Amino acid sequence: MSLRTCWLNGSFMAEEHAHVSIFDRGLLFGDGVYEVAAVFNGRLLDADRHLVRLARSQREIGIPAPYDGATLEAMMQEVATRNGITEGLVYLQVTRGAAERDFSFPAEVHPTAFAYARAKKLSDDPNASGVKVHPVPDIRWQRCDIKSTAMLAQVMAKQAARESGAFEAIMHENGLVTEGGSSNMWIVRDGVAYTRPTSSDILAGITRDVIFDVADEVGVKVVRRAFTLEQAYAADECLLTSATSFVLPVTQIGQHQVGGGAPGPITKRLRDGYLARAARLTA
Ligand code: PDD
Repeated sequence: MSLRTCWLNGSFMAEEHAHVSIFDRGLLFGDGVYEVAAVFNGRLLDADRHLVRLARSQREIGIPAPYDGATLEAMMQEVATRNGITEGLVYLQVTRGAAERDFSFPAEVHPTAFAYARAKKLSDDPNASGVKVHPVPDIRWQRCDIKSTAMLAQVMAKQAARESGAFEAIMHENGLVTEGGSSNMWIVRDGVAYTRPTSSDILAGITRDVIFDVADEVGVKVVRRAFTLEQAYAADECLLTSATSFVLPVTQIGQHQVGGGAPGPITKRLRDGYLARAARLTA
């Protein structure tokens, strides 16, 4: 891994100088929140929406916001630019900072905030030919709407997925699909796209949100309704969305081939529509 320029608590520095305390609550308790925004054509994509969600996550768990959205957006763009990223992502994390280990909040909170960038192929993603996902029970807590760094359940889910040769985990609870390990899941049936309604059971994905608009633009009807794993197996198409994958066709779920094992037309329309919008916004 080459040494990058990252940002920690207000300063840009070389990766090798970016250190946090062993008493940081992000490390001790997973007491932190984060965002991942895509970089396309060298420009941040939908950073404003990601920062609104970050502010909400912080509010929900009571971590004060040391920087405003405009400052963070400019910083994230600079992290991408300084590292010469044309396609990739910027990761931003805010924790409740360092304090003597005690579960309840410290009297005085000094949040730790840091960001780094990394290159990743987004427009020409080889996974656009279709990926396999691996079903696992969703064993997470009940506030999945908060983009928390406490993610042991997803770490285990995605490791199980990798061990089964899958790209992503598809999590389910009470028979219904919740979401991917780090993505939102969709199915298509008779030309209509279905995705689980927003609730504390899932993360309200920014990409998912944008796809609601893209679907309108490209003439795809969307219904916000939960679906079962069996409905996903039998669907015409299945797809996943995330800031780091955009829109990818899911052509296999466990042992079940979906839609004949090839990317379907609705998925292609949504992916192309999403890429066209990204190109427009970053031109
Ligand atoms: N994860 N659901 C979960 C559990 C996620 O972790 C993510 C994103 C999404 C998709 O949200 P968005 O469209 O805003 O990226 C849904 C990021 C990419 C990650 O953890 O790397």
